[in-house]
Amino acid sequence: MCQNTTEIPDESRRDFLGALTASVAGAGAIAACVPFVKSMSPSSDVLDKATVEIDISKIGMGQEKTVAWQGKPVFILHRTPAMISEMESSKGGKDPEPDSKRIQQPEWLVVVGICTHLGCVPNKTASGWFCPCHGSVYDNSGRIIAGPAPKNLILPPYHFVSEEKIVIGKA
Ligand code: FES
Repeated sequence: MCQNTTEIPDESRRDFLGALTASVAGAGAIAACVPFVKSMSPSSDVLDKATVEIDISKIGMGQEKTVAWQGKPVFILHRTPAMISEMESSKGGKDPEPDSKRIQQPEWLVVVGICTHLGCVPNKTASGWFCPCHGSVYDNSGRIIAGPAPKNLILPPYHFVSEEKIVIGKA
């Protein structure tokens, strides 16, 4: 029997067809995923809410305002000269950190208002904040002073737009 030498053996043909089918299926799977992955990207609406602009001009000296940022409370404290000098002369408690590392302007402290123990919202006191859940105490720099909380209150990214406005969510 005469055999054509250019003919592809059945085994090789099967391998080739298998590889071709797999690559077409892979391309199809990737193409099907594109709209799905696109839909997972945050919309501009959501991105807008990633930052909030806050007017701080009405927060009197010694007063604190709580605002919402990405579903979390953020405390903005307008510190008095006495608070500033007391915080500057202390390193804090079990999570020592100089006050200067926790502020951009000495008069303004901006911290996430969630206790670093188990996530309760602390209440303002004259000397800082007190967490009603298990008694953690934070100073006017948001540093842990007493109680079970292991860490200082978290600093959110923020920046001053002007003397009267800050944007929280972007450094
Ligand atoms: Fe604040 Fe436990 S959650 S002390």
